[in-house]
Amino acid sequence: MADTAANSQVNLIKAGLEDAVVSTSEICFIDGQKGRLLYRGFDVDDLAAQSTFEETVYLLWYGHLPTRKELEAHTKALSATANRKLPPKLIAMLRLFPKKTTPMEILRTGVSALSAFDPDADDNSREATLRKSIRLTAQMPTLVAAWERIRRGKPLMTPNPKLNLAGNFLYMMSGKPPTPLAAKTFDVALILHADHEFNASTFAARVTAATLSDVHSGVVSGIGALKGPLHGGANEQVMLMVDKIKDPAKAGAFIKKAIADKARLMGFGHRVYRVEDPRAKHLRRLATELGQQIHDMHYVEILNTVAAAVTAEKHIYPNVDLYSGAAYAAMGISTDQFTPIFAMSRVAGWAAHVLEQHGNNRLIRPRSDYIGATEARYVSLADR
Ligand code: ACO
Repeated sequence: MADTAANSQVNLIKAGLEDAVVSTSEICFIDGQKGRLLYRGFDVDDLAAQSTFEETVYLLWYGHLPTRKELEAHTKALSATANRKLPPKLIAMLRLFPKKTTPMEILRTGVSALSAFDPDADDNSREATLRKSIRLTAQMPTLVAAWERIRRGKPLMTPNPKLNLAGNFLYMMSGKPPTPLAAKTFDVALILHADHEFNASTFAARVTAATLSDVHSGVVSGIGALKGPLHGGANEQVMLMVDKIKDPAKAGAFIKKAIADKARLMGFGHRVYRVEDPRAKHLRRLATELGQQIHDMHYVEILNTVAAAVTAEKHIYPNVDLYSGAAYAAMGISTDQFTPIFAMSRVAGWAAHVLEQHGNNRLIRPRSDYIGATEARYVSLADR
């Protein structure tokens, strides 16, 4: 047995980089004790009540609320068919994938492929990155909707430049204009998911950007990280749990057993929040309103019972992923599209962080505390 390194003299930060502050940033602030979330200093509660996704994207990228003229130009760019449509060759590529391919796999692959068609692919200046970010934010809903329709054998919808990003996405998914409540709910959900400080996917995007790689690569890294069930993938897992519970009357017993089995309860807990995630209350309200509109409170009732049981028994609180799926399900969206929808919003934050990283860059390259062998002696294959 070879010697192992005895060099644990380094000051290891906590596992999972818990509490490690790795950079300054002016984009997003979280107060985990008070349950506050700010984008560029603005409380997300105020943005959810008064802003739009388009305006929030502007705020994240440019650092201030737009004037009317600035907002009009920005909204026009995000709505333009030229920016929303997918290259025909990309659509042809999508048709080649097995129909069972998950929407998150398609999104990760599709965003990577979009870079091959982008006229600014080789230009990482701030202006070009902003142009690419507009296109990516406009194209991702088209990509998500296109795969939904391709896998179900339906004809693709042409983006409608008169609809905002939220309304147009719902229209492209279903082929019908959304109800005003669905369009408004979806817009607020996009605002709530747009950024969240140095979460796993944003950090992944920043690590990629810090090599001076491009925004498409940063977003692909972000999508890959978001996909996991401990991060954005939790919203899909929540709905799978709700489908297993089936009946609100059985939710309490289900949770008791899950806690006894030491199962991870999806949609609960957070690395930063010690109270309820401020986004959860908005999504609970929106899911409730939509449930009432369609006269189906099944999901919301189960989730409310689950939330009460988990909070009482385990003292962990709902996060952003607990109620979002119930709202999307009420709009008729399939469960495996929930995480791609998260990404369609979070692209705003990823792009803001790529811009900030490029604006004051240093390669992100930490060390490990090596605890493996140091004196291993090579033995030829014949002698092993
Ligand atoms: N279910 C059960 N136990 C939990 C949960 C949970 N959801 N969250 C935390 N805990 C417990 C752990 O078992 C652990 O207990 P122990 O110390 O007795 O072993 C303790 O709380 C700390 O848990 P960690 O996993 O170390 O905490 P961490 O800060 O790494 O976890 C995370 C944060 C991953 C979000 C966690 O709460 C979790 O797994 N939640 C479920 C998945 C989820 O909803 N993810 C979405 C988060 S929001 C987002 O990313 C968009």
